[in-house]
Amino acid sequence: MAFLPTCPNPWRPTDFNLSRTKEYSIEPDIAHIVKTTSLLESRADQYSDYLRAVFKGRDRTWMSAIDQWNSEEHQHGVVLRRLCEALPSDYDFESFMAEYTENVPYHDVDGQSVRGSVAAELVARCFVEASASTFYRVLADATTDKTHRAVFITLSKDEARHFGMFETMLAAEETQHQQLSLWQKIKAVSSRLFELEDAQIMGASAIVAGRSLAKKLVLRGESNRYLGYLYRHYRWKHVVYLVRLLLKTIGVKRSNVLVKCLSALFFMALKLRWLLATIANRLTFNFARDMIAHEA
Ligand SMILES: [Fe+2]
Ligand SMILES: [Fe+2]
Repeated sequence: MAFLPTCPNPWRPTDFNLSRTKEYSIEPDIAHIVKTTSLLESRADQYSDYLRAVFKGRDRTWMSAIDQWNSEEHQHGVVLRRLCEALPSDYDFESFMAEYTENVPYHDVDGQSVRGSVAAELVARCFVEASASTFYRVLADATTDKTHRAVFITLSKDEARHFGMFETMLAAEETQHQQLSLWQKIKAVSSRLFELEDAQIMGASAIVAGRSLAKKLVLRGESNRYLGYLYRHYRWKHVVYLVRLLLKTIGVKRSNVLVKCLSALFFMALKLRWLLATIANRLTFNFARDMIAHEA
């Protein structure tokens, strides 16, 4: 059984005419988010090495799925790099990526899942792919550039297929090895959710903004800047989409009432985080401005 279904519309990074994007304007916050994501997506080999080690002992179909997944994630990095290189602003992928891999390590490749078990690892992967698919939908809806939009929609569809792949692997794992309780699945999703503000994303955000990681990364400040850019663009329909995928992951029936209630909770939490980030950014900006005026 192949875990990853074949892509119905195979594509290559060169299919998108991104040289034209120089003529278009792009919102600075979207440009920042895409540059940050280009580094995250370009680390596919490290993610795959980690997963292959965690899945050691599973059969060949697992490794084939990870190989295919790796090549698709790698392709995401390439197309985002091309998009960023076509933007009017400076973007030095090689130096950004070198700084990122040197300063922001990924999980050890020692065969141990940081989630505690293969099944919990798969639940966390479902969360990541569901979030990524939602994220690219958000970017697609936040851009007016047709080519950018086409790229983001394509990536969102790939991430949805990846979600399906890890979901199928989770079902296989639960049948053959370890069944997780509902509580264990909720715990795996929640712990991964709270890691969204860790150095993996925020380190990349600091690097592409030119805030050197030579100094210790101030995570809270970087999270406020990054999430202040990103969460502004999330709409109700995006949150509903994410909640439906997450309910599927934990195996809970997706009744309309439950989807609406959970979406309302997620939506309020997300917008509250955006509001807090915006206030913190404004206070930081005012403080920095006052310091400059004081020194002048
Ligand atoms: Fe991806
Ligand atoms: Fe993915």
